Amino acid sequence: MGLSDALWRTDGCGNTLAATDENNVCMKPESDKLTGRVGEVWVFGYGSLIWRPGFEYDDKQVAVLAGYQRSFSQASHDHRGTAEAPGRVVTLAPSTGAQCKGVAFRLPAPATELLSALDIREQDGYERTHVEVILSSGASVSAITWIASRGNPSWRDHESLDDIAQLIAYRKGPSGTNREYLFELEGALEKLEIRDEYINDLSVLVRALRYREINQG
Ligand code: SIN
Repeated sequence: MGLSDALWRTDGCGNTLAATDENNVCMKPESDKLTGRVGEVWVFGYGSLIWRPGFEYDDKQVAVLAGYQRSFSQASHDHRGTAEAPGRVVTLAPSTGAQCKGVAFRLPAPATELLSALDIREQDGYERTHVEVILSSGASVSAITWIASRGNPSWRDHESLDDIAQLIAYRKGPSGTNREYLFELEGALEKLEIRDEYINDLSVLVRALRYREINQG
């Protein structure tokens, strides 16, 4: 039995009712609850969109995207670094069997202007992409996310965690230090009870570098 079968049933008139709805009160159609309403616009955030969305939303839920993992493989020339000394920001790397937990936001309609603003915010290699995510409610929805894919000019391949930590610890750009970006993400994930060992390991390395510097200086 699928999830939808377990939670919903159809009454004699073809209306979908919650399985627990004893009074036969008319409920929203099944598709509203389990696949999202037609016309709804969801945005999936996995990086700074989690801790600084910067927009209004009608709903926010932890969401899971299968087949991807967070990766600091994207050089940042205009945000957490400069053209001469780029920082590193997070993108999504395809990875079989992996899953990335982030946050899905349901945008107020009409969403066109906000999406255009996000296109501008997520520049420097990021492209608007449609993905399928599972919300904490159990619904599967199509969501828009911004991914900087392998092969874009700012993609940095084969960097070790130590190399990335070394950059994040010291680089900064117009939006602030690179380490603030990492630590804000780490803190936001912790608050949402999302465990990401990659982010935790990177944060430990960056803190150790800073600690050493402060105590040597
Ligand atoms: C995101 O947060 O979803 C994209 C990457 C970023 O802006 O940090």
